[in-house]
Amino acid sequence: DWTMASYKDEAIRKIRETVGDRKVICGLSGGVDSSVAAVLIHEAIGDQLTCVFVDHGLLRLNEGEDVVKMFRDNYNIPLIHANEADLFLGSLEGVSDPEVKRKTIGRLFIDVFQKYASQIEGADFLAQGTLYPDVIESVSFSGGPSVTIKSHHNVGGLPEKMGLKLVEPLRELFKDEVRELGRELGLPESFIGRHPFPGPGLAIRCPGEITREKLEILRKADAVFIDQIRKHGLYDEIWQAFVAILPVRTVGVMGDGRTYDFACALRAVTSVDGMTADYYPFTHDFLGETATRIINEVKGINRCTYDITSKPPGTIEWE
Ligand code: XMP
Repeated sequence: DWTMASYKDEAIRKIRETVGDRKVICGLSGGVDSSVAAVLIHEAIGDQLTCVFVDHGLLRLNEGEDVVKMFRDNYNIPLIHANEADLFLGSLEGVSDPEVKRKTIGRLFIDVFQKYASQIEGADFLAQGTLYPDVIESVSFSGGPSVTIKSHHNVGGLPEKMGLKLVEPLRELFKDEVRELGRELGLPESFIGRHPFPGPGLAIRCPGEITREKLEILRKADAVFIDQIRKHGLYDEIWQAFVAILPVRTVGVMGDGRTYDFACALRAVTSVDGMTADYYPFTHDFLGETATRIINEVKGINRCTYDITSKPPGTIEWE
């Protein structure tokens, strides 16, 4: 009978057979899919695998360091940390149109990935954490919005351009099966249960122009919100939760003084697949406590709102 353990063994056998003694490059995002793919392939072929982690400077608090620690130090997987925050943030300076943001990030992502990947000598394969629903989506909605959702992590067109063959060991799996496989591979539960995070990162949670100052504030506020959610034991009930920093300053009072700082919006939704979503019904106590904490702990924010829009008509992200 079918178990995830036997699926794992079979997948490892197939990877070895396909790759032989050649080298594989894997783009790591820190998300569940690419992480499971990387650990699986590493189990199959060891250091014939090199991961490339493109850090665009739009990650959450400590996220870059955590990914590097986990894969390089914990799993001993050869990992190139492509720290290109200056390039990305520089190119995004003055950009406030959401589509231009996405396209700029997507284009740079591919350039950067290619630059680092081409430094790995003798690589013949590119590994991707493509899932079964991705395969279906890109076939049936070709060109439609569902394709652009993941456009930036599937480094489209790159394999041909670089003369690489694809390795996609998760192609037959659904998301919950990938999580199961992750458990089978010994990935920590805290990692497997992580909320999805979009490829363009904090860029699409910072409507208007992105500045380092705003990103810094956003990271801190987001960390407080997630901490609150974990403390109240709500993390696993929620599909996604995050803070968006609004492109507006508002007046407040703090102690004896007047403040003039950014407003932020909290967003938390339940969903099955991200296609539709409902806002999460936090208690007023939770919301009040969280707003107080964010405003007290995060310099630069003096007003906090809760986004109660469902999808549709809203989207989960703000851009
Ligand atoms: P929306 O905002 O469209 O998001 O309701 C639906 C789901 O997709 C994620 N998302 C993205 N993921 N690249 C990604 O990898 C993207 O450009 C992107 N845009 C949205 C979003 O976080 C949510 O889970």
